Amino acid sequence: MELVAASVSKVVLPRAKCAASSEIPTHFSGAAVKLDPKRPSNSIVYDIKATVSTQPRAPETEKDNINNSKPQVTPYQLWTRKSSPSHVSEEKLAVVRGMTSWATENLLPLLKPVEKCWQPQDYLPSFSSPTFSDEVRALQQRTANLPDDYLVCLVGDMITEEALPTYQTMLNTFEGVRDSTVCSPEPWAVWLRGWTSEESRHGDLLNKYLYLSGRVDMRMIEKTTQYLIGSGMAPQINNDPYNGFIYTSFQERATYISHDNTATHAKQFGDSKLATICKMIAADEKRHEIAYTRVMSRIFELDPSGSMLAFEDMMKKKITMPAHLMFDGDDEKLFENYAQVAQRLGVYTAADYVSIMEHLIRTWKVESLVGLTPEAQRAQDFVCNLPTRFRRLAERSQTMTKRRGPPVSKSFSWVFNKEIKLL
Ligand SMILES: [Fe+2]
Ligand SMILES: [Fe+2]
Repeated sequence: MELVAASVSKVVLPRAKCAASSEIPTHFSGAAVKLDPKRPSNSIVYDIKATVSTQPRAPETEKDNINNSKPQVTPYQLWTRKSSPSHVSEEKLAVVRGMTSWATENLLPLLKPVEKCWQPQDYLPSFSSPTFSDEVRALQQRTANLPDDYLVCLVGDMITEEALPTYQTMLNTFEGVRDSTVCSPEPWAVWLRGWTSEESRHGDLLNKYLYLSGRVDMRMIEKTTQYLIGSGMAPQINNDPYNGFIYTSFQERATYISHDNTATHAKQFGDSKLATICKMIAADEKRHEIAYTRVMSRIFELDPSGSMLAFEDMMKKKITMPAHLMFDGDDEKLFENYAQVAQRLGVYTAADYVSIMEHLIRTWKVESLVGLTPEAQRAQDFVCNLPTRFRRLAERSQTMTKRRGPPVSKSFSWVFNKEIKLL
């Protein structure tokens, strides 16, 4: 199936410039989607297109309604499939389909029963409480000391969480483990719905907290979320469950690190309640990371060569971060800029990307895999050498950044267009 933009004006292959290097994906800047002539012809090649409408954008306020001739530019709005549909091998499908009882016994226990879960309201002032106004005032006093660059990172994390519909859709593209009826009793489907329901609380809580803080421009944040969900994402999983579980293992660990760091920083800035919130969310991410990593560990046991090749494939493509198509209606490099702030503040860095790679190599015992096909052995060598290569690149780009002089600044609509230092 080919989707064609109604108003495509130009083709752009977005190689989101990394904060640290053009080759190392950092926090949310892994959008290195390349047309690779060496790829097999049956692989999907994604192409990004800019949609430039000549229609004036919808008025935002009464003031906007007057003399607003700025065109709506949504450079990341539409992705197209340019080659033939994906094909997941029967061998791989047999592996995941044969894991049904394993998933029931080993995956589903990692979902937390609803009755034992925290809910956003547990950490928010309640409108029904007589002390509501005092609680909001206390919240605003705490958040008054949060620096704007910290808020940019928190907003970026929150918007990433809010695009959950995209991630549920993405997970449901994994062949062999789909929720085929939207209420399927299959363990994979039960997991997918349960995971989504747990994740849904993350964006909800952060959104309400930030809203009550009064520190951020909620309208611009809401617009960014709407654009992001409308744009989707391009994780390059290609419907392949192996690729999918490698991606989600990586991604959940990345979000764990990010939320955990925002918790530490919140504490340093004096907002212990926000620190608790970020810690709670990080704990969920950790549990989800364990789940996906465990699934992939099992797949490595059942099909080491296939798993090895999938791992190599995903590492070569680089892990595209879920919010890489974010846009606020104005800043076409919003994601890149946000990633740079996250890198500078140490919320998520190029070094974290490498550490996740190392962690997965260790957890899946990649170095000691035996009985691999010659092709998979080559993939094993490639993957095992990757962290050292990436680390060297990260160090080199760090030196270059230092030599470049003071960081440049960029205004962020999320914090009322205040100038924020990038890298
Ligand atoms: Fe989350
Ligand atoms: Fe998550």
